[in-house]
Amino acid sequence: KRHLISAADLSRDDALLILDTADELAKISERSIKKLPTLRGRTVVNLFFEDSTRTRISFEAAAKRLSADVINFSAKGSSVSKGESLKDTALTLEAMGADAVVIRHGASGAPHRLANWVRGSVVNAGDGTHEHPTQALLDAFTMRRRLGPLDGRKITIVGDVLHSRVARSNVLLLSTLGAEVTLVAPPTLLPVSVGSWPCEVSYDLDAVLPKSDVVMMLRVQRERMNAAFFPTEREYSRRYGLDRERVARLHDEAIVMHPGPMNRGMEIAAEVADSPRSTIVEQVANGVTTRMAVLYLLLGGADLGGEIQ
Ligand code: CP
Repeated sequence: KRHLISAADLSRDDALLILDTADELAKISERSIKKLPTLRGRTVVNLFFEDSTRTRISFEAAAKRLSADVINFSAKGSSVSKGESLKDTALTLEAMGADAVVIRHGASGAPHRLANWVRGSVVNAGDGTHEHPTQALLDAFTMRRRLGPLDGRKITIVGDVLHSRVARSNVLLLSTLGAEVTLVAPPTLLPVSVGSWPCEVSYDLDAVLPKSDVVMMLRVQRERMNAAFFPTEREYSRRYGLDRERVARLHDEAIVMHPGPMNRGMEIAAEVADSPRSTIVEQVANGVTTRMAVLYLLLGGADLGGEIQ
C-alpha cells in the first residue's frame, strides 16, 4: 500500500504485518540497537496544522531511528498564517522531495486530499473528528503485548466518541483483528452514524466493566464542543469517569488505556492513570515502534534481518 489514511484501508493481514514488524523492531531496540540505516536518503515531512505532543514527537523519533531525513513543519509560524492553502503548502513540500508526508489537520478528509497532490506516501496523523489510524495501531500493539492475540477480546471504549478520531480508528481496526468492541458514552456524545459501526453501544459503564479485557478512556474534547452541550465535570465523572471504585469491577488482568492528552480527574482519576493496570506510558513508547513499522513498510525499507547482522 502507498498511503495510510484510514484504519478501514487495512485488511487483517495488513494490520498483522504492521504489528509483527513493530514487534520485530521492538526486539531490535531491546538489544540496544537504537538506529537502523534502513531509510537512509529518504525524507519524511511532518506536516502539523493542529497541536500535538505524542504523535509529532514519535513520528520524528521513528523516522530518525530509521535514518530518514526529517523536516518538521508546523502551521504556526508558517505561510499558512498568511492564507496559503493546503494544496500550495503540499506543492511546496513536493518540490523539496518528500518521500512521505505525515499530516495532522483539523479538517476531516485533509490527508485524502493531500494524497492527490503529492507523489510520496501520505500518513494520517489525525484529521478532524475522522481518523487517527497510527494511534489505533499502537493501541492494538499495546493490547497484544499485554494480552496476546486480540481475537474474541472484549474492548470497552468510553467517553466523547462524537469528537474522537481515536475511537473510530480503534473500532475499525479492532473489529478487523477479531476483537469485540463496546462503546460507552452519553447519548449526546455519540455520532448519529454509530449504528453502522462494527461495535455494540451501551450507556451503562458499571454493567460493561466486569466483562472488559481493556477499558480505553477518551478525552472530553472541550475545544470541539459547543458550550451549550458541555457536560459538567462532576456529572460526567459520576456517570462515565474511571475511578478506583469502578476499576475494582475489572478482572485481574484487565488493562486501562488512554491515548492522551488526559483530563485527570474528569474522565480518569489520577490514581487510576498512574496505577499498574494503566498502559498510558507504554502506549507512548509503543507509538515510536509502531510508527517505525508504518514508515518502514510504506517506504519499502531494506530487509530488517540484513540491516542488523
Ligand atoms: N494521542 C495523541 O494523538 O496525542 P497528541 O495529540 O499529543 O499527538
